[in-house]
Amino acid sequence: MLPSREFSNVYIKDEGLNPTGSFKARGLSAAVTMARHFGLKKLAIPSAGNAAGALAAYSAAAGLGAHIFMPRDVPIANRVECDYYGARVTLIDGLISDCARKVADMKKEAFWEEEGWFDVSTTKEPYRVEGKKTMGYEVAEQLGWRMPQGIIYPTGGGVGLLGMWKAFEEMEALGWIGSERPKMIVAQAVGCAPIVRAWEEGKPSAEVWTEAATLAAGLRVPKPYGDYLILDILKKSRGAAVSATDQEIVEATRHWAKKEGIFAAPEGAASLVAYRKLLANGFFNADDIVVLFNTGSGLKYLDVLDTGVARTQSSATAAHGAKSAARQIGGIIGPY
Ligand SMILES: Cc1ncc(COP(=O)(O)O)c(C=O)c1O
Repeated sequence: MLPSREFSNVYIKDEGLNPTGSFKARGLSAAVTMARHFGLKKLAIPSAGNAAGALAAYSAAAGLGAHIFMPRDVPIANRVECDYYGARVTLIDGLISDCARKVADMKKEAFWEEEGWFDVSTTKEPYRVEGKKTMGYEVAEQLGWRMPQGIIYPTGGGVGLLGMWKAFEEMEALGWIGSERPKMIVAQAVGCAPIVRAWEEGKPSAEVWTEAATLAAGLRVPKPYGDYLILDILKKSRGAAVSATDQEIVEATRHWAKKEGIFAAPEGAASLVAYRKLLANGFFNADDIVVLFNTGSGLKYLDVLDTGVARTQSSATAAHGAKSAARQIGGIIGPY
């Protein structure tokens, strides 16, 4: 976790440094470890891209079969990495929800049980959340066991958010932290924002977002399976849900790269857009300690970031005036 060079009370938790370049490694390392423990042989996943890469890598290391179902238009890195890891890749004309339908249909077939298949979809198995909860433990540890006032999380299926909330409850039960909680903030893309819409309308669950479209591929989840859990956490934490346009996301990706030296995934850059909006409307003030999650590496999106709306963006970042970060926080090698 790095202190921001731009905002004195903001920290950026950079998940792009994980194996396979995204936070998805946390959940899938746990899920694959347990799958092997239970003797499963073939793991199926509907994925927006990065979860597929993580499943493929950990399955290769564990000697299990990875069967990937992802949209045909995923970022190229996701397709290529899965192929190199030896996974069986099926490209679907549609969104992650169409991929999930394909896996659900396969479950009805006799081979599913006979050959030891298992569905590791988000929130449909118990261990990915256990892996992802480590983000909550790390935030607390890296802030000296204090809770920040806010955590902004780019949300598709939402297990990162659910995992961190679980971590806070566990840490309180352990006596490591008190009952205080950060305001949990969902960041989504304007082109697919089912949680933001449900939150703004005060609904306890989300409706399917039709015609979902955003270059932040991981946020293209038309209806998260755990939508009601996410919305409940927003309510309990007195949080918020904020959406960002693709233009804002690309500008923020460039801004972070130039200002902070972090080449973020577009999904991660949505956190910065959300923070700016919440600072501008007074939801946060400059004294609040807020953790922004960058959920992946921009290196996995070179094709996406070098085309269309992305290429025509110019940075609004001022090259001068950057403040040195006070100190290095967290177990990565930083430039400070
Ligand atoms: C980089 C990145 N950020 C955020 C997300 C959203 O994650 P989740 O679906 O667990 O909410 C994804 C999902 O693919 C992703 O790849």
